[in-house]
Amino acid sequence: MISADPSHAEVLAAIHRAAMPGDAWSADAWRSLLAAPGARTRIAMDGTAPAGFLHLRCAGGEAEVVMIATHPSAQRRGIATALLEDALAALDGGMALFLEVAERNHAARALYAGFGFEPVGRRPGYYRTPSGRQDALVLRLGHNTGGPGQRR
Ligand SMILES: CC(C)(COP(=O)(O)OP(=O)(O)OC[C@H]1O[C@@H](n2cnc3c(N)ncnc32)[C@H](O)[C@@H]1OP(=O)(O)O)[C@@H](O)C(=O)NCCC(=O)NCCS
Repeated sequence: MISADPSHAEVLAAIHRAAMPGDAWSADAWRSLLAAPGARTRIAMDGTAPAGFLHLRCAGGEAEVVMIATHPSAQRRGIATALLEDALAALDGGMALFLEVAERNHAARALYAGFGFEPVGRRPGYYRTPSGRQDALVLRLGHNTGGPGQRR
C-alpha cells in the first residue's frame, strides 16, 4: 500500500471510473481532494498495478471515508478490507468514522457491516442515478458502536 499525493490524481480517477462508471469524479477533482487539508489517501497495489484506494478526510475530531473503490478486475479479493483496516489503524482510537453510502449499494453496505458500521442517518434523494434519486445512509463507526477495529 502506498500514500497518495496530488500526482496520483489520474490513477484515482481511472480506478474510480472503472469501479463506478458514469458516476466518477474527474482527475481535476481528485487533484483538489488530494491536496485538501486533513486528507489521507492510500492506494492498494496488486503487484505493480494500483488496484484500489481509500480517501479519508479528518477534521474536528471526526473522520470521513469520502471514497473507497476497488478496480473491478481486483474486487472480492480483500482489497477494500485491507484499505479500511489501514485507515482504522491510522485513526486516533477516540475518533468516530463516518461515511455515506447509497441505500442500494449492497456490496459497499456488506463491506461496512462487516466492520460494524451502524446507520445514524438518512439523506433522502441524496444520490442522482440513471434510475432516479436514491437515499444515502449515513453510517458511523465509533465509541458507541464498539470503537474502530478490525473487520469482524
Ligand atoms: C464496495 C467495494 C469498494 C468493495 O471492494 P472489494 O475490494 O471487492 O471488497 P473486499 O474484497 O474487501 O470485500 C469485503 C466484503 O465486502 C462484501 N462485499 C464486497 N463486494 C461485494 C459484492 N459485490 N456483493 C456482496 N458483498 C460484497 C463482502 O462481505 C466481502 O467479504 P467476502 O468477500 O469475504 O464475502 C467495491 O465493490 C467497489 O469499488 N464498488 C464501487 C465503488 C463503491 O461503491 N464504493 C463505495 C462508495 S460508498
